[in-house]
Amino acid sequence: MRVTMIGSGYVGLVSGACFADFGHEVTCVDTDAGKIAALKRGEIPIYEPGLDDLVANNVRAGRLSFTTELAGPVAAADAVFIAVGTPSRRGDGHADLSYVHQAARDVVAAIDGFTVVVTKSTVPVGTGDEVERIMRETRPDADFAVVSNPEFLREGAAIADFKRPDRIVIGTEDDRARKVMEDLYRPLYLNAAPLLFTARRTSELIKYAGNAFLATKITFINEMADLCERVGANVQEVARGIGLDNRIGGKFLHAGPGYGGSCFPKDTLALIKTAQDMESPLRLVETVVAVNDQRKRAMARKIIAACGGSVRAKRIAILGLAFKPNTDDMREAPSLSIVTALLDAGAEIVAYDPEAMDSAKSLMPEIAYAPDAYACLDGADALVIVTEWDAFRALDLDRVKAALRHPVVIDLRNIYRSGEMHARGFTYVNVGNA
Ligand code: UDX
Repeated sequence: MRVTMIGSGYVGLVSGACFADFGHEVTCVDTDAGKIAALKRGEIPIYEPGLDDLVANNVRAGRLSFTTELAGPVAAADAVFIAVGTPSRRGDGHADLSYVHQAARDVVAAIDGFTVVVTKSTVPVGTGDEVERIMRETRPDADFAVVSNPEFLREGAAIADFKRPDRIVIGTEDDRARKVMEDLYRPLYLNAAPLLFTARRTSELIKYAGNAFLATKITFINEMADLCERVGANVQEVARGIGLDNRIGGKFLHAGPGYGGSCFPKDTLALIKTAQDMESPLRLVETVVAVNDQRKRAMARKIIAACGGSVRAKRIAILGLAFKPNTDDMREAPSLSIVTALLDAGAEIVAYDPEAMDSAKSLMPEIAYAPDAYACLDGADALVIVTEWDAFRALDLDRVKAALRHPVVIDLRNIYRSGEMHARGFTYVNVGNA
C-alpha cells in the first residue's frame, strides 16, 4: 500500500516509519524545508529511542522517503494521513485546526482516484465532518473518504506503542475505507491487536476520553499522596493495593509532581472547551486540570519546606527537566513551574537532564546547567529529582552525599527508598510517604 504522511513531526514520523517497517511504501511530507533536508541526511529532529535506526533501515530499503512536495505522493497514495500540529489556540484553549484544514485543502487538490484521508492528529469531535466538508467544497468531483484514526503513542515508547498497541481505533462507516484501513494495519491485527471500528465522531471522542481518564487517574493518586503524607500512609502501597483490583488496574497510578507533556494538558483543555460549548460540562475533568496546575507550584513549596523553610541564596540541584524520561520534550514539564517558583523564592538553580538541556536552555536561560548528574549536585544545598530517568535510579549514594553541601534529597518521583535514605543520613522527602 502507498501511504503519505502530511506532517513529519512526532506522530507523522513515528507512524510513517512504522508503516514503512510493515512493508508499505511511505512518503513523509512537511512544509518545513529545513526539517525535510535534515531527515534526508538521516538526522532525526526529535529524540525517540529506536527511531533513528527504524528510519535509516526503511530509507535504505527504499520504503520511506521525505519531501516538501505534497502533490505527487498524495496523487499516488491509497491513504493520506493528516498528522499536522493541533496546538492550543491562544486565549481560549480550543485546539487550533488551521493546519488540519489547510492540509485538507492541499490534499484534495492533489488526490487521484479513491483515496482514504485519515485524521491522525488529535482533533475535536466533528473535525472529520469539517475536513470532509472543506474537501467537498474545494473539489466536488474528488473521490475520497475521511477516516478518524487517533494515535495512542507515548513519547519514549512510541515505536513499541505503534507496533504492539492495546487497540487500533478507526472511525469510519465507509466500506471502501474500512478495507484500506484493514490492509494497512493487517500486520498488527494478525498479531491480535483489536481493530475497533466506530463512527467517526465516536473515534474522535475516544482519544480525548482516554487521555482525560488517564489524567484523572494520575491526579487522583497525586491527591491521595498528599493525604497519605497527612495521615501517615504510603501512596505506593495504596496504589498497589487498589491497582491489583482489575477494575482499577495498576498503571498510571504513580504519584509525582503532576502530569505534563504535549498531550494531557492540551487535550484535557480542548475536551473541556468542547463540553462547555455543547452545554455538557465535564466538571470532573475541569477539576483535574485545576488540581494538576496547582500541584506543580505546590512542589516548589514542598522543596522549600524540606530546605528548612527558605531557599534564599541556596543552591538547588535539579535532576531531570523533561516532562518524563526518554524524551527531550519540555512541553508543560513540571520542572518549568518548579524552577520558576524556586527562582522567585531566591534560590540559585543548577540543572542536568540527559536529553532535554538544549530546549531547557532556551526556555530557562537564567539557570546554570551541569554536564552530568554528579557535577550538578556538587556543592548544592539540596538535590531535587524531578524526572525519573533510569540513570538517576542508581546514583552512587556515597558520592551523592559527599558532593552535596547539605544531604537533603527531595525525590518527586519516588525512585529511592525512604528507609535506606534515612539510614544513610540523608534528609529525604518523597511524594506520598509519611
Ligand atoms: C500520553 C498518552 O499516554 C498517549 O496515549 C497519548 O497518545 C499522548 O499522551 P505522553 O504524553 O507521551 O503520552 O506520556 P505519558 O507516559 O502518558 O505521561 C504523561 C504525563 O503523566 C507525564 O508527565 C508523566 O510523568 C505523568 N505520569 C504518568 C504520572 O505522573 N504518573 C503516572 O502514573 C503516569
